[in-house]
Amino acid sequence: MNRDYIEISEKRKREHIENFLKGKNNNSALFEDIVLENNSFPELDFPEIVTESMFLNKIVDYPVRINAVTGGFDGAVEINRGLAELANRFNIPMAVGSQSLGLKSGNYESYTVVREIMKDKVVIANVSAHSTLDEISRAVEMIEADAVQLHLNAPQEMCMDEGDRHFRGILDNIEYVSKRIEVPVIVKEVGFGMTHSTVRNLVDIGIEYVDIGGKGGTNFIEIEDMRNETIDYSDLYDWGIPTAASLLQCKELSSKINIIASGGINSASDIVKSLAMNSSLTAVCGVVFRRYMESGYNSTEKMMEGMFHKMKVIMMLLGCRKIEELRNVNPLIKGELKERMRD
Ligand SMILES: Cc1cc2nc3c(=O)[nH]c(=O)nc-3n(C[C@H](O)[C@H](O)[C@H](O)COP(=O)(O)O)c2cc1C
Repeated sequence: MNRDYIEISEKRKREHIENFLKGKNNNSALFEDIVLENNSFPELDFPEIVTESMFLNKIVDYPVRINAVTGGFDGAVEINRGLAELANRFNIPMAVGSQSLGLKSGNYESYTVVREIMKDKVVIANVSAHSTLDEISRAVEMIEADAVQLHLNAPQEMCMDEGDRHFRGILDNIEYVSKRIEVPVIVKEVGFGMTHSTVRNLVDIGIEYVDIGGKGGTNFIEIEDMRNETIDYSDLYDWGIPTAASLLQCKELSSKINIIASGGINSASDIVKSLAMNSSLTAVCGVVFRRYMESGYNSTEKMMEGMFHKMKVIMMLLGCRKIEELRNVNPLIKGELKERMRD
């Protein structure tokens, strides 16, 4: 039974990567509907711009995390080593992929390699929000994590033949474990977005970090559909709340909870726009992972160098010296995003 679970899960992990690389994803995160305006008197010199910020009580050089991708099978060791080297090189946080498989198989190397490389930098554990307190504690311990992501992924599970069908009690479970676990809990979507009321529920149970993980980047309905031989789910590929729309809905909750923006964040301007929409951190996954898998470490490092440089350029052109000042930018909202605004 346990052997079967491990084999099926390892195969699924490999297929997720293969299908991600094949996937098309035609959805937009709607960042094109957030407009940043030029400040002709920035009153700054470029060397003054600082992108450092605090995350989980540690200084990070950029408020950008490499988000959870993979782990638990042999091929994942090299992948996670490369991603951790990138995170370490830029001193940015990194989350490992779901540790459920590792917890079952006892094969920890693809997760622990991240902590080994990142030393005392920010490393985040990842398991399903269904997990028990014992599983979550073991996941945290495995990599001496600074925090744990509990992922929510009902749309993905529902389009997976072998997926979970039981979604009762998850909010209660999150409340239960978050009050007992020794590190902060980050509740995370995987590309389908969160509404104001979802985030409000998390505020009400005392959660301090939420990753709204919106639509517009990696599409797990499409990825699962390529594995699924029974039902064609292609008419659901546009399911979810675009990342910018989630940010807009949740903006006013940012004084009560740290909002992490992710899902389809592909450029310096997406990062800056997310921060201007009151997120305290952003996270990239697909854009970095694809480049790494297709072109290797050096090419990904160069892309990230460019992305971080352009982030500073945009801060300069907005007249913002520090990350916190981006909150005062007040971007223009247009198009579909504007239509989605509620009173
Ligand atoms: C191949 C692959 C595997 C992933 N596995 C996990 C996972 O194990 N746990 C998780 O929380 N998110 C996982 N994700 C989701 C990402 O962390 C992220 O939420 C999602 O890809 C949206 O961000 P993006 O549009 O920047 O890719 C995975 C993404 C990819 C591409």
